[in-house]
Amino acid sequence: MKIIMLGAPGAGKGTQAKKIAEKYQIPHISTGDIFRANIKNGTELGKKAKTYMDQGLLVPDELVCDLVVDRVKQEDCKNGYILDGFPRTIPQAESLDEALGQMGESLDYAINVDVPDEHIVNRMSGRRACVGCGATYHIVYAPTKKEGVCDVCGAELILRDDDKPETVQKRLSVYHEQTQPLIDYYKGKGILKDVDGTKDMDVVFQAITDILGA
Ligand code: AP5
Ligand code: MG
Ligand code: ZN
Repeated sequence: MKIIMLGAPGAGKGTQAKKIAEKYQIPHISTGDIFRANIKNGTELGKKAKTYMDQGLLVPDELVCDLVVDRVKQEDCKNGYILDGFPRTIPQAESLDEALGQMGESLDYAINVDVPDEHIVNRMSGRRACVGCGATYHIVYAPTKKEGVCDVCGAELILRDDDKPETVQKRLSVYHEQTQPLIDYYKGKGILKDVDGTKDMDVVFQAITDILGA
């Protein structure tokens, strides 16, 4: 099963992708997580990506496409995968389609987690990310057992640099301009599925599993 997640920043793509990956035993590939891991490790890619990410801008397509295409060709992606945060522009979608076409494959589902802008800023300001393992929480909607400490690995939790309200506004406008057109792109391919992302996390997950099947 090859799935991509669409949705505004903070719509809950990562939250749902993680649950889907667990249930269907497929890799969860998040380009945002890949860039953040590179930043943490001080790689060249990380240094380049950071300058864009901190401004709420997209990292240029040429830094993203090859990385993802290489990743989905790996052995563990044979039975499918879930892409979270890619594609994010029409050229990225086209380059993925082209690469899959060359392998004789195609995507099965594009799941659009629909959340209006007015909910987003509130969600992002409450999000906390683990500096150790990258796990994501929310101070109200998904709290940790012990305040400020990751349930999974015990490391410290932080507010992501790009989750400050002014950067979130920029990310939202970039989303509307560059990523939202993908909804029509995948509608045209007949694989778009909308879910209401304003509902509780478990309700959203149920809606997604109804689409994907048991
Ligand atoms: P990325 O990390 O992908 O960020 P994003 O798309 O902005 O999305 P987020 O991760 O912020 O949100 P999410 O939808 O995963 O929500 P989450 O589940 O965490 O990308 C970061 C940056 O990297 C980009 O800005 C760009 O610069 C660069 N980049 C990445 N990919 C790229 C690409 N392909 N091309 C170019 N540049 C790229 O949930 C948010 C919060 O809400 C959490 O606290 C969560 O607990 C809570 N929550 C989730 N669901 C619910 C619910 N149903 N009810 C209540 N709270 C909920
Ligand atoms: Mg995410
Ligand atoms: Zn952790």
